[in-house]
Amino acid sequence: MIKADVLIVGTGIAGLYTALNLNENLNIILVTKSTLTESNSYLAQGGISTAIDLDDINSFCEDTIKAGNYKNNLDVVKMVATKSIDVIRHLDFLGVDFDKVNDEFSYTKEGGHSKKRIVHCKDYTGKEVIEKLLDKLTRIKNIKILEHTTLIDLITKDNSCLGGVFLNNEKTLKIYSKYTVLATGGIGGLFKNSTNQRTLTGDALSIALKRNIKLKDVEYVQFHPTSLYQNTSKRRFLISESLRGEGAILKNKSGNRFVDELLPRDKVTLAILNEIKKTESDFVYLDISHKNADYIKNRFPLIYNECVKNGIDITKEAIPVRPAQHYYMGGIEVDKYAKTSMNRLFAVGEVSCTGLHGSNRLASNSLLEGLVFGKNCASYINDYIYSTKLEILDIHINTNHIIHENKNIFKNKFINLRGDLKDELI
Ligand code: SIN
Repeated sequence: MIKADVLIVGTGIAGLYTALNLNENLNIILVTKSTLTESNSYLAQGGISTAIDLDDINSFCEDTIKAGNYKNNLDVVKMVATKSIDVIRHLDFLGVDFDKVNDEFSYTKEGGHSKKRIVHCKDYTGKEVIEKLLDKLTRIKNIKILEHTTLIDLITKDNSCLGGVFLNNEKTLKIYSKYTVLATGGIGGLFKNSTNQRTLTGDALSIALKRNIKLKDVEYVQFHPTSLYQNTSKRRFLISESLRGEGAILKNKSGNRFVDELLPRDKVTLAILNEIKKTESDFVYLDISHKNADYIKNRFPLIYNECVKNGIDITKEAIPVRPAQHYYMGGIEVDKYAKTSMNRLFAVGEVSCTGLHGSNRLASNSLLEGLVFGKNCASYINDYIYSTKLEILDIHINTNHIIHENKNIFKNKFINLRGDLKDELI
């Protein structure tokens, strides 16, 4: 058994930024199902949206709501847009190497944004941010990190969360905590074609359903328009929307343009799927080869190198692409402090449903959401933790039974609502 002040499950941007904003004298345990760098945040390419200045907040809110098909929570949208300026400044202060020109952020554009407002580190923003956060966190002596440790249940009493039960090296491990934060990410591992890490299978959502914790917008799942077309069962490699933001063109197999590349994601995905059907092809093409070759290699080194590995020189030829599952807008319902319907339990990042995204997330709003809600969550915990007692509850766990159950509870609920996506699931 382990005892902690705060237990954080998941080490993507939301989990790490929550940890970084907690008081340094708290005992914090960070747990991940795989390794510290195997998160969707680490894979993020495009960047992080931000209001450029106070005058841009309204326009940023409008773009977010329009992309979300007006299903967003307006107060949350406004709160996130307003706080975006400070969290980006903080990352800059922490040493995140954002691309700059003359010491000013070099903003890029993606689908659904009415202007350039996305800060980025070439095409590996997630890797750069996560590595900088980990560098800070691993220097804090009260933070303990456990890798290869899978959450299999929450320890609950009278609608309060007292900690979690984990599987580590085939052994059961109980971690008791005053507060528990779920930051376990999305559901892409349930889909045949997804840009997500295969380990992300919605385990926390199954546990939430089992423990009567409220979920919201369970049917809202996003498909990214452009993943690299590959005939394998591996994770789909993303071809960032920022390529389109920097001028890449979508073409069908006859070389004809068929859609405005910078519409919100759901619209571009639909246009591609229609074109694929119409032209009886497995993919369409994304072409940036009209741009200067040195510019392409310098601005998109990750994508350039991955495509070369797949026999495609993007400076000379178009990239075969098709849509793939990318993001889950639904999740555990939370308020603006990331509090769930269960006492002492919080959820941040993709596992949560804050209301920011509506039914279709605006490009590059996910890392931003993780940062803003991670910070809000930490500030709430910092205020209340000293008046909260650790409680230990002796429970018996039948591990095999639970793992088997967790695999299907969420998936079945999802299929009930989205029978149309049944064939997309594994
Ligand atoms: C991308 O780079 O296209 C993905 C960014 C996002 O998921 O918002």
